[in-house]
Amino acid sequence: MEHKLESGTTITIQKGKPEDAEVYVVYLEKISEESDFLTFGAGELTVTAEEQREIIQRFLDASIDLCLLAKMEGEIVGNLTFRSGRRLRTAHTGEFGVSVRRKYQGLGIGGRLISCLLDWARETGRIRKINLRVRADHNSAIRLYRKFGFKEEGRLKREFCINGIFFDALTMGMNVEENGVIMDKKNGVLIYQSEEIRMRYTTRKDLDVVLSTEQSEENSRFIVPWSMEQHASALEDENMMHAVLESSDGTERVGYVIVSGLQNPNDSIELTRIVITEKGRGWGRKALQLIKEWAFEERKAQRLWLDVKEYNTRARHIYEAEGFIVEGILRNCLKTDGKYESLVLMSVLAHEYAAWRKKG
Ligand SMILES: CC(C)(COP(=O)(O)OP(=O)(O)OC[C@H]1O[C@@H](n2cnc3c(N)ncnc32)[C@H](O)[C@@H]1OP(=O)(O)O)[C@@H](O)C(=O)NCCC(=O)NCCS
Repeated sequence: MEHKLESGTTITIQKGKPEDAEVYVVYLEKISEESDFLTFGAGELTVTAEEQREIIQRFLDASIDLCLLAKMEGEIVGNLTFRSGRRLRTAHTGEFGVSVRRKYQGLGIGGRLISCLLDWARETGRIRKINLRVRADHNSAIRLYRKFGFKEEGRLKREFCINGIFFDALTMGMNVEENGVIMDKKNGVLIYQSEEIRMRYTTRKDLDVVLSTEQSEENSRFIVPWSMEQHASALEDENMMHAVLESSDGTERVGYVIVSGLQNPNDSIELTRIVITEKGRGWGRKALQLIKEWAFEERKAQRLWLDVKEYNTRARHIYEAEGFIVEGILRNCLKTDGKYESLVLMSVLAHEYAAWRKKG
């Protein structure tokens, strides 16, 4: 994206791409020679272009990390990297570092990079807190961070040692919603995760993918597709959980799930819908295991139930394999394209789940 600076100069800010690796390595070497405010000094970064290519690719693959490069006439003049927590309890937060080549400082490039980070963080809907560390005597940087709403949260004594002299660092932080509002508090926040799979709240931005997945032939015959409005209202519904299923490292989106009955007075939670886009790779089983654990251990459900079309043998197979017991059949309860269809009711109870877990 192009940005016009106050001086009239234009820069572009984009996510780093693997083909930037070589110039990026040169940039990092140069910046390490120029600045005493970074965590690395001259000659300390010994990354090859090939390694840098892989690092950039990892940033691109992990939707919760960000690597931005600011370029002027094709040359890298600044960069920003942000890494978020890898575990459930810290996935909403992360730390960034930013740098600008000395001769381009004071032109507003650092500020533009931080603005892009904040826009991105808001868009993810998931990043709720941004942290940074800065040398305590780096006044111009501290002023810039304050301008964006970062507040000092602590002081790390002797955090830097440069040529035998110790320097303290300030830790600064900002809640993303304080700097431009996240409308829906649920937006994108991580809900639950296992080693391999996790669920996070669906955002409005996800709904196009949800709808096209649902309407595709391979899925639509097994469920009753909803309209955009129905999905959007489920996002807001306190009685429901509308969640995207993705690999735990955030690199792969594998489907979505809708659960109802969160406020049910009988502690009966309904697995209303589950759709796996990457079929036949075991994601369905993993998702069910995750949902059971979440329902019984986190939500303290008494009963987790669902209905499934009688002829949906693949889904019935995984439900049975995951301990769901058939309760009965609602015969000819649906009329689809003029044909009647039956639904099989299935459930797991809390004590069955506990026994199942004990058995391993
Ligand atoms: C049903 C669904 C959620 C399963 O997810 P998935 O990732 O494909 O499932 P997995 O790869 O984890 O497991 C598939 C299992 O079903 C078995 N299977 C595949 N096709 C089958 C069939 N036609 N009949 C019986 N079993 C079948 C596989 O052998 C595998 O069994 P295993 O784990 O014992 O080896 C997914 O296919 C889907 O989204 N389908 C369309 C929407 C849908 O039906 N949702 C459920 C509505 S109630």
